[in-house]
Amino acid sequence: MAQPLFSLDGESLITPQSVSNNFLQANQNNETDLLRTAEAEFAVVINIAMQRFSAGNDLPGAVRWLIGQLHDIRLKCGPASWQKLIPIIQAHSSATIMQQCPFTRWSFEKPRGYSGDASLIDFIYGHSAVAEEVARSTPLGLDIFEYTINAPGPVAVRERRDILTRYVDDTAARIGPDTEVLAIAAGHLREAEASKSLADGRLKRWVALDQDPQSIGSISSQFHGTAVEPIDGSVRGLLAKKHQIGTFDLIYAAGLYDYLADKVAIRLTQICMEMLKPGGVFLFANFSDEMADDGYMESFMNWELLQRSQADMWRIVNASSSAENVEGKVWFGANRNIIYSTIQKLS
Ligand SMILES: C[S@@+](CC[C@H](N)C(=O)[O-])C[C@H]1O[C@@H](n2cnc3c(N)ncnc32)[C@H](O)[C@@H]1O
Repeated sequence: MAQPLFSLDGESLITPQSVSNNFLQANQNNETDLLRTAEAEFAVVINIAMQRFSAGNDLPGAVRWLIGQLHDIRLKCGPASWQKLIPIIQAHSSATIMQQCPFTRWSFEKPRGYSGDASLIDFIYGHSAVAEEVARSTPLGLDIFEYTINAPGPVAVRERRDILTRYVDDTAARIGPDTEVLAIAAGHLREAEASKSLADGRLKRWVALDQDPQSIGSISSQFHGTAVEPIDGSVRGLLAKKHQIGTFDLIYAAGLYDYLADKVAIRLTQICMEMLKPGGVFLFANFSDEMADDGYMESFMNWELLQRSQADMWRIVNASSSAENVEGKVWFGANRNIIYSTIQKLS
């Protein structure tokens, strides 16, 4: 795996190693067999994929096929063998081909030092901020990119951004001009670009908290003079109640819980519930355990995520709030690659 990787505040678990450490317990003998089989399967699959690449027709189709095959291999061989297969895939000569895709390369190289930075998500959003990086790619890289950013995971991420915009605008319509919103792990706050309530000046404040000073700088310059208030802060700061930021009608976190172990996720949810006004809503999103691109992401992109099931989401909801005072919901996005929870504070 590419090193060094580190988390910026020691609280988020954004290193592939730290995510995978959760899985490394397995029966040794069985594991050796599973790994051998998985290696053999990968050898066959990558051979076919490279032949399809050399033939040069329907490259996005070939990438779609490869991503599907990696998902199946991952599922079949189990977590412990898969963790051992990842560095083998990353060292394979095909990795330099896949990394001609700008999205794959950015994820693998981690220019900001950690996985899942806001610029990586900008590739998914097709944002102009990464247009130069995309333009530098080879024609083959662009063909691969055409599928990687239209794979089920990225499709779900674009829907997630639109859901966030809708939640903010609906909250503003419900509450009126006193509406206060908090985005945790805001990244570049791209969901604000399409917000009607922000454009029409119908929000009191939209606090955007992130640990990455570059992301905070981007928000500051883009949304200067609006209700958006960027804060250079962290989950750790929130847990320690270091940020005195008041209370909110809507708090949300997207692209964060995928890196947080249950203990931190539950504590953060409790803190967010405390920061809600009566009637307020907390929303958090997580990649679901039904996601389709995990094998490709974890290997060629070196981007590991904690996937969560409906039961996992409910465990966080139930451990974070007392049932009498809240209404919790768990629901999937359209293609079930991202799962959401909303918790409304009733009183
Ligand atoms: C995948 S991006 C998501 C950005 C945005 N929410 C979106 O949906 O496009 C993850 C963001 O989480 C931020 N982040 C990760 N760990 C964090 C922490 N412990 N405290 C605050 N921000 C964190 C990163 O800096 C990054 O901007």
